[in-house]
Amino acid sequence: MSTIALFGANGTIGSRILHEALRRGHRVTAVVRDPAKITTTHPDLTVTTGDVLDPASVAAAATGHDVLVSAIGGGDGPGHVATIRPAAESLVAGLRTLGDPAPRLISVGGAGSLRTPDGAQVWDAEGLPEFLLQIMHAHGDALDFYRSVPDVRWTSISPAATIEPGERTGSYRTALDDLLTDAEGTSRITTEDYAVAVVDEIEGPRHVGERFTVGY
Ligand SMILES: NC(=O)c1ccc[n+]([C@@H]2O[C@H](COP(=O)([O-])OP(=O)(O)OC[C@H]3O[C@@H](n4cnc5c(N)ncnc54)[C@H](OP(=O)(O)O)[C@@H]3O)[C@@H](O)[C@H]2O)c1
Repeated sequence: MSTIALFGANGTIGSRILHEALRRGHRVTAVVRDPAKITTTHPDLTVTTGDVLDPASVAAAATGHDVLVSAIGGGDGPGHVATIRPAAESLVAGLRTLGDPAPRLISVGGAGSLRTPDGAQVWDAEGLPEFLLQIMHAHGDALDFYRSVPDVRWTSISPAATIEPGERTGSYRTALDDLLTDAEGTSRITTEDYAVAVVDEIEGPRHVGERFTVGY
């Protein structure tokens, strides 16, 4: 059993991580801006307030936990783009105040920086909408930042190009920096199976200090 503090616990991806962690017997603190948005009740669930952009809030939320998971985002607007890299910096700054060993950090990342078979990156594809490109590059900036951090045990987990609510099959594949595609050539994962991969990484750390991706 691990103790997990989870930012973004009411979000699309974060809520799946919350439920996957609870069903597998972990103790979770959901760290949210509005506790009313957490409607789940469970004996192993605690709800607290916190702001991922405030390192003191991050430190307070993470204290006493084995792992800090960040599934923060913010829709299609500029707030989303503006949050991603500053959140990464705030998460690291907050954890650094907790000494050694601080809780491990697992951050939901983006697919944009993954390599494609032609040697380009996902964000090089033609015709991507501007707002999506900005989000992809914000995640790329956050990943560059994490890769410069030697003193916090971080892991960034990039979903496949498409991640949507769906079935929990319990099956998925992983790669480091290469985009995963299924037999039909589609890069996809359900939020439920992505959450399985996140909790698998919590239970059996294999990617401390690196990014990996999850797809079918
Ligand atoms: N294929 C891909 O690469 C891909 C696809 C989808 C998503 N993603 C990434 O995955 C992440 C999560 O996406 P999602 O769809 O689950 O997002 P979401 O449903 O919009 O949820 C975002 C969560 O972040 C929380 N949040 C935002 N700012 C915060 C702050 N300052 N302090 C604390 N919590 C804050 C929100 O809380 P409130 O409810 O209070 O606003 C919400 O719980 C995003 O970073 C997104 O870019 C990647």
